[in-house]
Order: sequence, then C-alpha cells, then structure tokens
Amino acid sequence: MRTKLSIYQKFLDGVPVYLARHYWWAYLWRPAVWFFDHQFIINLILFGQYRKLMTAAMAHIDKTPKGEMLQLTCVYGSLTPSIVNKIRPNVLHIADVSPAQLENVRAKIKNKNNILMTRLNAESLAYRDNSFSTIIVFFLLHELPQEARTRALAECMRVLDHDGVLICAGYNALPAKHFLYRFPVTRFILTKLEPFLASLWKFDILSALNELGRPFHKRAESIAKTEVFSSFYHVTTYQISGDR
Ligand SMILES: C[S@@+](CC[C@H](N)C(=O)[O-])C[C@H]1O[C@@H](n2cnc3c(N)ncnc32)[C@H](O)[C@@H]1O
Repeated sequence: MRTKLSIYQKFLDGVPVYLARHYWWAYLWRPAVWFFDHQFIINLILFGQYRKLMTAAMAHIDKTPKGEMLQLTCVYGSLTPSIVNKIRPNVLHIADVSPAQLENVRAKIKNKNNILMTRLNAESLAYRDNSFSTIIVFFLLHELPQEARTRALAECMRVLDHDGVLICAGYNALPAKHFLYRFPVTRFILTKLEPFLASLWKFDILSALNELGRPFHKRAESIAKTEVFSSFYHVTTYQISGDR
C-alpha cells in the first residue's frame, strides 16, 4: 500500500526537516525560487526596507577583512553580486543546503573565479576551525528553530578566525513598540509565516556567541550596529577575539 506524502516530504532531499516543512514553498520549490528572486517581491516581504538593509549590510561588510569570506546561506536579491563586485574578497565561500538556491546564486554571478559554493547544513559546516576572516549571515537566524540556530552560531564561532568578524542582518530583539508587532493581525501573519521568529525575538545573539565560543577560546563583542525600520531590523558586526 502506498502512503500519501505531504507536499513538504517531497522536498526532504537531504535538507533539515524544518526547512522542508516550513519553507519548501519559499526556498526549495524551483518555481518559487524564480518568483521570489525579484527585487519587487523581496522589497515587499521586507516592508519596503530592502534598499536600506542592503546599504547597511554593505557598509558593515566593507569594513571587514577581505580574506576568506563566508556567506552562510544564499539570499534572494543583489547581496551576493554586490559582495563579489564591490567588496571583492580574496575568496567568497557560499554555503547552503539547497541545491536550487546554490544554482540560482551561481547564475547571478558573472565572474566566478574566486567563488566556492558548497552544499552544507549550517548546523554542521565541513570547514576547518579558524577558516574565515568574515562570515555574513543575512536573514537566516529567524528561519532556524532555537536548537538549529544555536548549532549554526556555534559553527560560526568554530570556523571564524580568532580575530574574525561575524555580520548578522535580520530581525532585531522583540519589537514591542513597533506597529507591526502591536497590531495583532500583522503580528499573527508574521509569526504564522515565520514560525521561529518569536523565539529569535527573545534570543540574545551576543550572549549565545560568547557561550558557544568558550570551547574554542573565543569571545565576541558587538562593535557596530545599524537599526532599520524603527529598530525592527538590524545589521550588527561582532568582533571575535581570543587566544590561539
Ligand atoms: C538566508 S535564508 C533567508 C533569506 C532571505 N529571506 C532573503 O532571501 O533575503 C534562506 C536560505 O537559507 C537556507 N537554509 C535554511 N536553513 C539552512 C540550513 N540549516 N543550512 C543551510 N542552509 C539553510 C535556505 O536553503 C535558503 O537558501
């Protein structure tokens, strides 16, 4: 007897269950990859803040070491081509667990000389300790359940060099005074579409980084923060330090 599969189970091709279950329609289904990767759609999802977020992220990235850079997971829009063309890191590594996403970003980059794309789960990165001078995490943390988020950040602390830099862009701490949070309908829609966002709102990234860096003798300090859309979003640079 054949068991009927839920739609998401058809996407369980080596990706974490939470990604297939909650985001197949956004990142794994190929027509969706085409649909969402339009400036107009991304800007709509980010309440018109895409340009501001990109400008802030690029300003933070521009101040970081240009050695080995890791963009942890693909993103829609122009972030990756902008890093390649404007920041020009020595090497840009891009890791994502979705082949469709890696193919999509590959098609957007003309000069692929210094780009290395790898299919990896952010929770278990197959890179050596202390491999990267900079890691960029753009709107990923709210899409991971708390345990996966913790594992991904632990991996960032492990693979970042002792004087490396982590740049996180995404949702800021609980936006209790923001109209999108105060208005029950928008709060309901947001937390329905983004089932792990509520846990990120209460998650202290800096404390987590310091705790997770302890086994690697690394500490993190927030050295620059830009808030966007009345503090609903943020871009933060964390400086890593520690003994080799
Ligand atoms: C960066 S996040 C959100 C991006 C944001 N919505 C945008 O496009 O601007 C989406 C990406 O994370 C990837 N992803 C989610 N969980 C992952 C995991 N555990 N390991 C690796 N990639 C993951 C998805 O495949 C997708 O490409």
